[in-house]
Amino acid sequence: MIITIDGPAGVGKGTIAKIISKSLGFKYLDSGAMYRALALFANLNGVSDNDSDRLKKILIDLHIQFIDDKEGERVLLNTDDVTEDIRTNEISTLASKFAANDIVRKILREMQRRMIKDKDFIAEGRDMGTYVFPDAEYKFYLDADLKIRAKRRANQLKEILGINMNEENVAKEISNRDNLDMTRESCPLHPAADAVIIDTSNMTIDEVVLKIKTVIDNA
Ligand code: DC
Repeated sequence: MIITIDGPAGVGKGTIAKIISKSLGFKYLDSGAMYRALALFANLNGVSDNDSDRLKKILIDLHIQFIDDKEGERVLLNTDDVTEDIRTNEISTLASKFAANDIVRKILREMQRRMIKDKDFIAEGRDMGTYVFPDAEYKFYLDADLKIRAKRRANQLKEILGINMNEENVAKEISNRDNLDMTRESCPLHPAADAVIIDTSNMTIDEVVLKIKTVIDNA
């Protein structure tokens, strides 16, 4: 069974998806981490987001793996552990730019479908319920006010990277990214017609988890 959770930056999709995947015993697909790893890889190879010919060539050598260890999930780019490297603001912005390239999206979409094949998964991202897994059994779209999302993202940056970021700057970064993610031609971010939309602005993590589980249990 596939459950999709989509939504804009900083809405808490990752946190919620992880909790639900643990409690249901499902695997978890962090599709954003794949766009981030790809952006890091292309950047290290000196390839820009609009150079589709070179991107096609280097992406043949891109292998992204998720592994579970004691500290939680790790992201491997080829053999390198890039779990922390892909969480910087620079990579967030780059990931969004590379994600607008249709070749990049086609390659990652195929990888995502292969990873999930015939397994129980919570797939989290921007286009999971709309373009990658349109037949998913349950679809959720999380949203929240920009200021609240900026606060959540700033807290996350502090937790993961130990960086103190000004919330106004974080708000600018995520609003630019949302704009790009929602207006690109290839698979833009929007709720699927059959998604349950949840405004999490005034909800705790536990309340959002409960809401999602209630929808699933009562279906
Ligand atoms: O979820 P995230 O912040 O880790 O995602 C980083 C960027 O990757 C996001 O700004 C747009 C892109 N992305 C995408 O286009 N499609 C997805 N399914 C997931 C992420």
